[in-house]
Amino acid sequence: MALLEVEKITLTFKGIAALLDVSYRIEKGQIVSLIGPNGAGKTSMLNCISGRYVPDSGSIRLRDEELLDVPAHRRTRRGLSRTFQNIALFKGLSVLDNLMVGRHARMDAGILSSVLYLGRARAEEDRHRRRVEEVIDFLGLSPYRHQPAGRLPYGVQKRVELGRALAAEPELILLDEPMAGMNLEETEDMARYILDINEEWGVTVFLVEHDMGVVMDLSDHVVVLDFGQVLATGSPAEVQADPAVVAAYLGSQDAAFLGR
Ligand SMILES: Nc1ncnc2c1ncn2[C@@H]1O[C@H](COP(=O)(O)OP(=O)(O)OP(=O)(O)O)[C@@H](O)[C@H]1O
Ligand SMILES: [Mg+2]
Repeated sequence: MALLEVEKITLTFKGIAALLDVSYRIEKGQIVSLIGPNGAGKTSMLNCISGRYVPDSGSIRLRDEELLDVPAHRRTRRGLSRTFQNIALFKGLSVLDNLMVGRHARMDAGILSSVLYLGRARAEEDRHRRRVEEVIDFLGLSPYRHQPAGRLPYGVQKRVELGRALAAEPELILLDEPMAGMNLEETEDMARYILDINEEWGVTVFLVEHDMGVVMDLSDHVVVLDFGQVLATGSPAEVQADPAVVAAYLGSQDAAFLGR
């Protein structure tokens, strides 16, 4: 059984298909990348998984359970979290508080029992804090913990965004262009964090990214979208050599990865 199984997802906007009959699987423990030219439907796909968009038809199953029946705000508790292409932090809140917000999305509904049994509430709160502290350490965010997120350098904000998603303790994390706008050093740092999240923390990663060097280095498996349809799937080497992928990317600014 795959961790995530996407089957025949179609999503239209005013009759125009952003996604058409899209099917693929994400195996537990892998880093799977979703690539494709601008407007191919990558963010729309993440939005269907996270619940921001509701597809016209198809099925998305997480651990064999239909996600489309689960309201968006409850999907975090099922083990799903994400980052956004455009940073979506609470700019006035500190790094620590942004991560606590990410953590709260995961909290159980047992608030009443927590109130009745204060001891348990404290233990819970400690557990959440501990997780957030772990994430802060792991991402090297300690120097920024009390600073308002909105005033941090862009590369650090991208890391806080990752931290917020990680604080929710996801089994599957959806990353929408985590390297976008970063310099080489920041990109290498982010690539290392993604690998560590996967290898050390056991989180399955679904990565949307235009930096093909990164995609080819990190991915176990690649799904290629073009005009809302799956053009190819396979190992990095397989998709790089796929004639349809080559044709779709020829002349684009991302074409350099072909035939490496
Ligand atoms: N909310 C929306 N309303 C109308 N059209 C939309 C909406 N969201 C996405 N689309 C359309 O769906 C198509 C796919 O867009 P999407 O943002 O998913 O592409 P993408 O692959 O993420 O592109 P990029 O690489 O530029 O981020 C585009 O034609 C886009 O205009
Ligand atoms: Mg996008």
